[in-house]
Amino acid sequence: MFRPVSQSTQKEDLVTCRLGEVHRPAAPCTIVIFGASGDLTARKLVPALYHLHKEQQMPPDFRIIGFARREKTDASWRQELREALDQFSRTKPVDDVVWRDFSQHLLYCQGDLTDSAAYQKLQKQISDFPDPGLQQNLLFYLAISPSQFADVVARLAEARLLHRETQAGWERIVIEKPFGHDLESARRLNQELTRFANEQQVFRIDHYLGKETVQNILMFRFSNAIFERLWTRDSIDHVQITVSEKVGVGQRGGYYEEAGALRDMVQNHMLQVLSLVAMEPPVSLDAECIRNEKVKLMQSIRRLNPEDVSHQVVRGQYFAGMSEGQPQPGYRQETKVKSDSNVETYVALKLFIDNWRWSGVPFYLRTGKCLPMSASEVRIQFRPTPHVLFAAECGQRLDQNALALRLQPDEGISLRFNGKVPGTSVEVRPVRMHFSYNAEFGAYTPEAYERLLLEAMVGDATLFIRRDEVEIAWQIVDSIRHAWEGKALSNREFYAAGTWGPVAADDLLGQAGHTWREPMRVNSYSASAK
Ligand code: BG6
Repeated sequence: MFRPVSQSTQKEDLVTCRLGEVHRPAAPCTIVIFGASGDLTARKLVPALYHLHKEQQMPPDFRIIGFARREKTDASWRQELREALDQFSRTKPVDDVVWRDFSQHLLYCQGDLTDSAAYQKLQKQISDFPDPGLQQNLLFYLAISPSQFADVVARLAEARLLHRETQAGWERIVIEKPFGHDLESARRLNQELTRFANEQQVFRIDHYLGKETVQNILMFRFSNAIFERLWTRDSIDHVQITVSEKVGVGQRGGYYEEAGALRDMVQNHMLQVLSLVAMEPPVSLDAECIRNEKVKLMQSIRRLNPEDVSHQVVRGQYFAGMSEGQPQPGYRQETKVKSDSNVETYVALKLFIDNWRWSGVPFYLRTGKCLPMSASEVRIQFRPTPHVLFAAECGQRLDQNALALRLQPDEGISLRFNGKVPGTSVEVRPVRMHFSYNAEFGAYTPEAYERLLLEAMVGDATLFIRRDEVEIAWQIVDSIRHAWEGKALSNREFYAAGTWGPVAADDLLGQAGHTWREPMRVNSYSASAK
């Protein structure tokens, strides 16, 4: 997945390791998108494939077949996608020449997901392609409801489009979260999938792993001796991982009523980020080595019994408030949400990792909708100095050093440390050093889906979730859900839209003398900024 590259510049010799370079070119292949009329296809998948084509990263030949129930022609599907691309493309305007060429690869196959004959038609369409690569290398993207995964996979196998062992070429399935809604259903789903495909053929997407800044966590940790040496309980006081969103659930109330913040964000994105931040160095960059370390880390997360949950987990739900100066309805007033819903739109957790590196270090995780800002950040809060030389002038406690990995927006890294305020008095104040992706590398920020689709075509599973990772994450989340079962939200668990969650979340940190830190923003420094 990563390859060291020497680059000579006039100023100095730089040895860079190109993050994100896929070292095996993708072979000609056919991508079949189930759910071709859906939102994900229009908003994410086709724009990502268009950009890969624009960047000349697609295989030398490829076809993209959209499979869906509605009657459409190739031409009408292309037209629809073009309109969506005009709206959702990360680069604007859409390049007409690139689009014209790209759109020739888009084909539509009308069919019902439950109709075996439709899969025969698909099989026939694929076997008529001129190039053997297009016939034999098949990527099935299931952008459909999870309840349909197992059935579609069984029908693909029945139509001889999917084999556990392929004689030539490769056959892979890409699936979107949620992978089940608890441990039991996830196990069942995994078992059903692996009746027809090997684990190596199943690529489970967590789009956070496709983000450059999330991939950079490992590069940052294991290419910088100065930080990795401090990356233990000896130097680190605690870690805060925040994934906050300004928006409410909007039109997704129906889905959210089944999910809630714990299933929607913690089970996947947040535990993935946590495992990258805290895992041991892998033996190599091989997909299995990295995933083995992530699994080991998740196994070391201390399990919570119902009593622990009451002290270490806080849930919350937003009520009506203001967001960006606009009135925001409460969660219970959102479309398709029950008027007495107990679903959490916010969750904060205090986790411990029982291993040599992290023993005793709290990891605080929080995520929520309708918070004051949209920002994802990992904050490493270092231990205080053992003695304060300037106590007489500055008080007994100096600000603790902190390192913030700014995952989004304002992607970059900030280091916060103390410095002398110029002048004759002895005054110490926190200052910050910022690294910004934009300033350093320009505005090239591929969408997570571009990277993930490319990796799936190349067959590198590093950025995808393995079966055991999914199952362990469900064990952790299930223990919390069980403790909440049958308990209605209390008054202390509500928060006004546009605020930082329920007060109980502050108490969660307050018990240990800690406070939540607002995600750092590069352009908003003030002496009082936390
Ligand atoms: C999705 C969740 O997985 O991630 C959404 O279902 C959430 O509820 C989204 O809004 C956040 O992703 P991002 O990339 O915008 O941080």
